[in-house]
Amino acid sequence: MSKGLFITFEGTDGCGKSTQLQLLSEYLKQQGFDVVLTREPGGTQISEKIRDIILDPNNKEESEVTEALLYAASRAQHVAEKIKPALESGKIVLCDRFMDSSIAYQAYARGLGEDVIAINMFAIQGCSPDVTFFLDLDPRIGQERQVARGKLDRLEQEGLAFQEKVYAGYKELINKYPDRFKVVNANREIRDIQSDIVCLIKNLLKQ
Ligand code: TYD
Repeated sequence: MSKGLFITFEGTDGCGKSTQLQLLSEYLKQQGFDVVLTREPGGTQISEKIRDIILDPNNKEESEVTEALLYAASRAQHVAEKIKPALESGKIVLCDRFMDSSIAYQAYARGLGEDVIAINMFAIQGCSPDVTFFLDLDPRIGQERQVARGKLDRLEQEGLAFQEKVYAGYKELINKYPDRFKVVNANREIRDIQSDIVCLIKNLLKQ
């Protein structure tokens, strides 16, 4: 049994996860909690190297199966080297994307199905999130934001139809795990989204 708390953030591209994670991390630190803020793909030196391979827009020949295995490999290293030890020492781990991303993007949107779940169960070795925030934003708005920011990575270049499939994948996951998922309307001002998240976190910490 781990002593810490494992919180993940999920959503389609451009939903504003990273901003909210940063704000939540600052809030929890102010409250005196020991927080580890990390991201996927990445979070450790090896996992960040794998990230570069996965997201490089020049890697056009990368197969979908390779992509799924690389995400899982990056995650396995992240769990073993960073997430598990942090949870065991009682920290709060905030992670920008985790296994649900692979299910929404690779299993649903790429159509790779159940095999993606199997390789990820192997990768995470029983280390699953206690709570997952889904930042709910119309994929069309997310796509517009990404385009406005420019310089899209290999996954972001897949376009709106792909993001819509990802969104549908997340909705199925939310139906499957209604207790773990906290859905937050992300089409609002940053501080309104943050206050909803803080409210949900306060309730969780009381438990
Ligand atoms: P990320 O850096 O979180 O991008 P963003 O800030 O735009 O959300 O993730 C990079 C991309 O990788 C993103 O398009 C989602 C995708 N991804 C997967 O397809 N599968 C996965 O398992 C993970 C973790 C990310």
